[in-house]
Amino acid sequence: MVIKCLENYEAISSHAADIVAAAILEKPTGVFGFATGSTPVGLYKSLITCYQRGEITFSGLTTMNLDEYVGLSADHDQSYRFFMQHQLFGHVDVRPECINFPPVSGEPSAFDDLIQDKGGIDLQILGLGSNGHIGFNEPGSAFDSRTRIVGLSSSTIRDNARFFEHSRDVPRKAVTMGIRTILETRQILLLASGANKADAVVRCLEGPQTEDVPGSSLQSHHNVTVLLDEAAATGLTQK
Ligand code: F6R
Repeated sequence: MVIKCLENYEAISSHAADIVAAAILEKPTGVFGFATGSTPVGLYKSLITCYQRGEITFSGLTTMNLDEYVGLSADHDQSYRFFMQHQLFGHVDVRPECINFPPVSGEPSAFDDLIQDKGGIDLQILGLGSNGHIGFNEPGSAFDSRTRIVGLSSSTIRDNARFFEHSRDVPRKAVTMGIRTILETRQILLLASGANKADAVVRCLEGPQTEDVPGSSLQSHHNVTVLLDEAAATGLTQK
């Protein structure tokens, strides 16, 4: 695991964009896994700039998003499809038929089959929940879990209420790539920013590997880069 502590959010975003752009250049027909939430917004802005400068193209890529709320329509402004369209996909030349999300109805495991059919995920971008979740794999998720419907924890509902008018509007369920599915990706880029992530960062990176802290499963992956800003890294002892 390579852990880099950078000055601030802007530095994480631009360093992350360098890593993703290099991976796209290396494998222009690759399978790339995307995350939603506040953390990757700066990364996506930087990738749009790279695309506009003609440095990268998304035209050969297949995309696999990590998760989606159950119960919101695809055009709901808080659905993750809507988020990706507005934060990245709508601004670059990714082919719409190559964009994939875990299914909110039907058999969730079809998503794992699709990932396998496409040859596996080359690079997966991850954010980190303040409770240590990755994707919507909440504390207690099995490390060998696959794509499935999950209930959101009360802390995630609280954290995500900032995007909705009322916290009662936050969906209680989501479909998420499983931890095993995430660990099977060839390269992982984990981003965390801000003091509210500091505790989860320590527990993921320096604590024991335990299903109580889903992000701690990443310690067993052979190719993880973690980018932190100073606030998110404050608790680390091995800086
Ligand atoms: C989003 C996702 C979540 C977020 C996490 C952090 O697709 O899977 O695990 O990455 O909840 O969210 P933010 O970045 O909003 O703090």
